[in-house]
Amino acid sequence: MKEQKKSKKGGGAEKINVLLVGSGGREHAIAWKLGQSKRLGKLFIAPGNPGTAKFGENVNIGVGQIRELVEFAVKNDVQLAVVGPEDPLSEGAVDTFEAAGIKAFGPSGAAAKLEADKAFAKQLMRSSSISTAEGRVFDNFPEAKAYIASRDEAVVVKAAGLAKGKGVYVCDEPSDGILAAEKIMVDKIFGSAGDMIVVEDKLLGEEASILAFVDGKSIYVMESSQDHKPIGDGDKGPNTGGMGAYSPAPVVTDKMMDRINSEILVPLVAGMNRSGAPYKGILYAGLMITAGGPRVLEFNVRFGDPEAQPILMRLKSDLLEVMLAVCEGRLDEVDLQWDQRPAVCVVMASEGYPGDYEKGKEISGIDEAEQLPDTIVFHAGTAVKDGRVVTDGGRVLGVTSLGDSIAEAKENAYKAAERIKFDGAYYRGDIADKAIRRKV
Ligand code: AMP
Ligand code: GLY
Repeated sequence: MKEQKKSKKGGGAEKINVLLVGSGGREHAIAWKLGQSKRLGKLFIAPGNPGTAKFGENVNIGVGQIRELVEFAVKNDVQLAVVGPEDPLSEGAVDTFEAAGIKAFGPSGAAAKLEADKAFAKQLMRSSSISTAEGRVFDNFPEAKAYIASRDEAVVVKAAGLAKGKGVYVCDEPSDGILAAEKIMVDKIFGSAGDMIVVEDKLLGEEASILAFVDGKSIYVMESSQDHKPIGDGDKGPNTGGMGAYSPAPVVTDKMMDRINSEILVPLVAGMNRSGAPYKGILYAGLMITAGGPRVLEFNVRFGDPEAQPILMRLKSDLLEVMLAVCEGRLDEVDLQWDQRPAVCVVMASEGYPGDYEKGKEISGIDEAEQLPDTIVFHAGTAVKDGRVVTDGGRVLGVTSLGDSIAEAKENAYKAAERIKFDGAYYRGDIADKAIRRKV
């Protein structure tokens, strides 16, 4: 936002070796952006993907192998670890890096509970007077069932733990809510992430994602964005990790952003300090902009995926500098410059996702897609096999373009996506339509 001062740091300072942890589209976008930094020495990505390999060295260590990651960092003179996904954050990756004397970008394990434990998040919101849906937490199915059955409005049933963005069921009928609770708590489709559930009221409005850098004291809000969680056009079908995103989100006017800052972000950071888990890293507020103002759907403790792709396409400033400022508690020195042009990311997925899907389908046309102006194809679930790029995940690619308007950014991203082919390629056709309807 506007009020921050200019950074005093130039490009002359010493080079920094960075270990980026993760392998998704978000990490490709982060690696691409870090690759532009004058401060970057070596970049290692663990485990990375064929996209991140263009900007550094992929290292074959999984995101859950925290001890091995830290050992690698120590041996390779890494000065900064950047942890992309939520699982290693909630397992305390940042604490372990820091204990070994390595700066780490992201919240501590205790602070990452904000995402990893929706019951904790609900409690913290309540005690910090942050507006969210009315909700109740249950640790056993019979009580959850009785509660849902006693209601005659729509309910939202959420696994309390981490479920890769798929643990939320928006149920217009209580009977569907009971089925969802049963799947989560009795059938354990998300394992122990479903030991507890949150049952909350359904909120009406338009969603937006607000991401901010936080260093424990200061908050620097990034440009707004919006994800598309359901698999199908018109927001139909089951939720996914995210099928596309755009930035900015026109539903977030300047006035709304001020409210989000003062009613949500500031009290949240204060609440985390009070709870004994000061917050540092990226704070992601998933919001419903209702008629009564912004309400929190969830907090995440990292860059959104795919929101990171359009947001980082628009970031003109040095990402490494701001990450260092966060780690060193001097975010108040930072001022970020943004490309005023909107960006749109269309996720190309494997047929069957978010259910079962096949892997290993050859992908063609990525280079042709990237020949379009201001377009980058971020890899998410890909691998290289016998020298060819093949599908290796549910969300395969994030085709991201800038444009002079959001409609033009959408057109560019879809033109690029049309050049890319693989068996069973699936993507939504309506990414950014909500924003276009608001005429940006
Ligand atoms: P979450 O992972 O909690 O953000 O939920 C995933 C998606 O479910 C959100 O992006 C919303 O589309 C939807 N959702 C979650 N909570 C609610 C709610 N209380 N009311 C309406 N929709 C919701
Ligand atoms: N795009 C939603 C998420 O990253 O959780």
